[in-house]
Amino acid sequence: MMLEPSHLAFVPFVSVQNMMRLVHHVGAEQFLTELATYIEADFKRWPEFDKTPRVASHSREGVIELMPTADAENYGFKYVNGHPANMRRGYQTVTAFGVLSSVANGYPILLTEMTVLTALRTAATSALVGRYLAPKGAQVMAMIGCGAQCEFQALAFRAICGINRLRLWDIDARAMEKARTNLQAVGFDVVVCASGHDAIEGAQIITTCTADKQYATVLTDNMVGAGVHINAIGGDCPGKTELHSDILRRADIFVEYPEQTRIEGEIQALDPDHPVTELWRVMRGEAPGRTDPRQITLFDSVGFAIEDFSALRYVHAKVEGTDFAEPLDMLADPDDPRDLFGMLQRAK
Ligand SMILES: NC(=O)c1ccc[n+]([C@@H]2O[C@H](COP(=O)([O-])OP(=O)(O)OC[C@H]3O[C@@H](n4cnc5c(N)ncnc54)[C@H](O)[C@@H]3O)[C@@H](O)[C@H]2O)c1
Repeated sequence: MMLEPSHLAFVPFVSVQNMMRLVHHVGAEQFLTELATYIEADFKRWPEFDKTPRVASHSREGVIELMPTADAENYGFKYVNGHPANMRRGYQTVTAFGVLSSVANGYPILLTEMTVLTALRTAATSALVGRYLAPKGAQVMAMIGCGAQCEFQALAFRAICGINRLRLWDIDARAMEKARTNLQAVGFDVVVCASGHDAIEGAQIITTCTADKQYATVLTDNMVGAGVHINAIGGDCPGKTELHSDILRRADIFVEYPEQTRIEGEIQALDPDHPVTELWRVMRGEAPGRTDPRQITLFDSVGFAIEDFSALRYVHAKVEGTDFAEPLDMLADPDDPRDLFGMLQRAK
């Protein structure tokens, strides 16, 4: 006889459909702003977390990664892939899901889609960092790479840094057209450009979010003038970078977790002891951010587990007790904790 699962068997599950409903319910820019608050709060208590570079399984086509971290109360991880050739085969480059658990008993307290959430958390992190590093009064952002992440980045930079003018460039004209249509529909002033060179003309912030499984040179040294902030999110795997290394030598480089960024970020092209600044120290006021209007600042973003943990915490707080989460019968929970077999037999 099939028995009803106990209430402890159920884990709140946020589907893609419900994540999209939640984002619209909150408002995308409000969501990004609130999420950035969670990320900033967690960066400010950085030493409280268990940290490790993510566990990556590389293949010729791409990478599949697990990104775990924990504080005293919760454990979280994200499963995420990165397959640059996917898009041409009708698949997404990046897909993800994640779990938040209680450290006290190890039970998951949230299972959620994280493909949409990763785009949101990456954008919220970029814009939060932009608030610390971008030149004062920045109004124009160049966006090189108009794929899945592009519009999310733009929305976050508007919500958090006040950017409303965008200059787009992508090697694929259809990607630029898609981004232009989407971004104009939400009120951005958009210019589609003829080259990367053209795109960075007059921009105070340059976001690179391209996908290519190689050492690419999306920005060459002569393209980058004084006083810009570069938000480089696409170089995030060994052998996969976007910037010419001469730019790195002229820039002040800011990173999430150096142990991971030195393996995966733009700085894999530099000596292992090249100086970098950890962003959590800047956010705590322990290290300087931008100190000079002519300085080139670079956020060498690879995406770190604590950002996903913040996103999981935020979504958990938002969906608790609402119909944005569905109960998923995910944990076997026998009445007698030692009688797992008996539970199986009674289900005959
Ligand atoms: N740092 C992070 O936290 C983080 C998080 C998510 C994704 N990413 C990375 O961001 C990148 C973009 O992700 P996505 O989901 O938008 O990918 P996507 O495949 O949807 O889009 C990538 C776009 O880059 C364009 N492109 C490729 N080479 C280019 C070049 N040389 N110049 C201009 N455009 C070029 C492609 O035509 C495509 O439109 C990926 O490399 C992904 O791994 C980083």
